[in-house]
Amino acid sequence: MTQIDHVHVPLGERAYDVVIGQGLLAQAGALIRPHLHRPRAAILTETRVAGLHLEALQAGLQASDIASSAHALVPGEATKGWAGLAEAVEWLLDAKVERRDMVIALGGGVIGDLGGFAAAVLRRGVRFVQIPTSLLAQVDSSVGGKTGINTRHGKNLVGAFHQPSLVLADIDLLDSLPARDFLAGYGEVVKYGLLGDAAFFDWLEVNGPALARGDKALRQHAVRVSVEMKAGIVARDETEQGERALLNLGHTFCHALEAATGYSDRLLHGEGVAIGCALAFDLSARMGLCAQETPGRVRAHLRAMGMKADLADIPGDLPGPEALIALMGQDKKVQDGRLRFILAREIGDAFVCDDVPEALLGEVLHDACATRC
Ligand code: GLY
Repeated sequence: MTQIDHVHVPLGERAYDVVIGQGLLAQAGALIRPHLHRPRAAILTETRVAGLHLEALQAGLQASDIASSAHALVPGEATKGWAGLAEAVEWLLDAKVERRDMVIALGGGVIGDLGGFAAAVLRRGVRFVQIPTSLLAQVDSSVGGKTGINTRHGKNLVGAFHQPSLVLADIDLLDSLPARDFLAGYGEVVKYGLLGDAAFFDWLEVNGPALARGDKALRQHAVRVSVEMKAGIVARDETEQGERALLNLGHTFCHALEAATGYSDRLLHGEGVAIGCALAFDLSARMGLCAQETPGRVRAHLRAMGMKADLADIPGDLPGPEALIALMGQDKKVQDGRLRFILAREIGDAFVCDDVPEALLGEVLHDACATRC
């Protein structure tokens, strides 16, 4: 067993801890009990995760005399919409969840975002605990209070900042992830090294393969460092007025690629982030901001991990450079009609850039599309 880490997210009266370690489901009752006004909790989850982990969570709660009821939604991104939100909120009301009760979101990013938003709007806001079951959710979406749903206009366009009261990141739960999902989540881990911690990227180059094979101590270290970085950024810029935008490294490209692939399993979000990070370094090099060799180093690590690193790795047809740029124009990070990119002066040194010359962006995408020929 690895030791348990506590990462504090210092947000004044909304401060909370992210607890990272093994065997946390069995200890969930003891960890959650201090946050409860009465010994009951309502769990939102999805059917696949429920089959794997719900019984263990409810047993962990019961061990501390916490009664729980649970509702499992259909797995998948399509659940994160108005209908899924209505289903979740109506069930929470059926379950007689009161203003001072606790909702538990047990699942990956979809359940965390949807469950958090349901908690945000239920009775004008009830508290919630995140128990992220995917690597992506453990290192990114469960921390920082971004909650919400997708609409026909795009992803995450309706939502609220609503911080959890506690996050339990149980490293053991990652064992049940398909390898592809694990590596997609790893795309977000790499992102932290690339945006703000060159030494962490060095560490990932050395330890990433063993971590992916299942080494628990390495996994815990990677999750802790990622969460520490996110906690620091969120504490300084909770509502994304500035620095928090750095967490979107790779995302302008990623969102265009996700739209181009119809948000299908041709491209998982974390895979799009990894390719998007490589493209952000291509653009940075093309603009003379970072060394010409740096994008190659980023791709070499993604390849060493068996990850997608280029447009050529996305199966099926893709639109050309102009169409991809048009899709970027739909991104919610567009401000005053200008595309916003996170670029880098070097690995670990990212910054927000609102004035990327479109000709250079076109050249980068033209070259990237050429890798598919
Ligand atoms: N996932 C990016 C953020 O939380 O700001």
